[in-house]
Amino acid sequence: MDCLFFGLIQPNIHSQFKIMKHLNSNRIIGLGCAILLVASVAGTLAQVKQGKTRPMQTKHWMKGVLKPHCNALKKGLDAGPSDADAWNELAMHAGLVSETSYILMEDGRCPDDVWANAASKTLREGSAAAIKAIEAKDLVAAKAAFKSLSKACSACHKKHKPKKK
Ligand code: HEC
Repeated sequence: MDCLFFGLIQPNIHSQFKIMKHLNSNRIIGLGCAILLVASVAGTLAQVKQGKTRPMQTKHWMKGVLKPHCNALKKGLDAGPSDADAWNELAMHAGLVSETSYILMEDGRCPDDVWANAASKTLREGSAAAIKAIEAKDLVAAKAAFKSLSKACSACHKKHKPKKK
């Protein structure tokens, strides 16, 4: 990594030496890099857990919206919808999963490509395919779409969901 601190410290290097005789320039640069690294990791965590300006926490959307609708979608597909109301319920669950793919990309939440791929590709395309299949009352296609959208959960969690202690 190119350290930005290098540029800041370099012009000042002689006065730095007077103050910190025991530190050589490499150690000063190393310290600067470490501080930057810690600051950027902390910033990333903050975005992932909560958006920049909106107060909702990511985990609350996960528990309150995404998980229940994802579970209900799976249960309904496994059972096989028996009437128009049941198909409509499935379309609603898939719709809420689809909206989640947009919410997760908003308000500075997205920290990297792993997140962006999981939310704006895997989750978005899978849930859109599920809605399309449900509207066509095509259960086989809807189940396949569910399987593909559910890959988004593990892909994003593997990198961004804190491990349970
Ligand atoms: C783009 C990233 C991303 C995607 C996609 C994603 N999640 Fe999450 N999820 C997170 C993050 C980040 C956390 C941890 C938030 C925290 O603890 O602050 C989390 C936490 C959770 C939790 C725990 C909530 C709690 O009460 O602590 C559940 C349940 C969950 N996700 C379900 C799902 C399901 C089901 C899917 C797929 C349909 C999914 N998530 C897809 C990012 C994602």
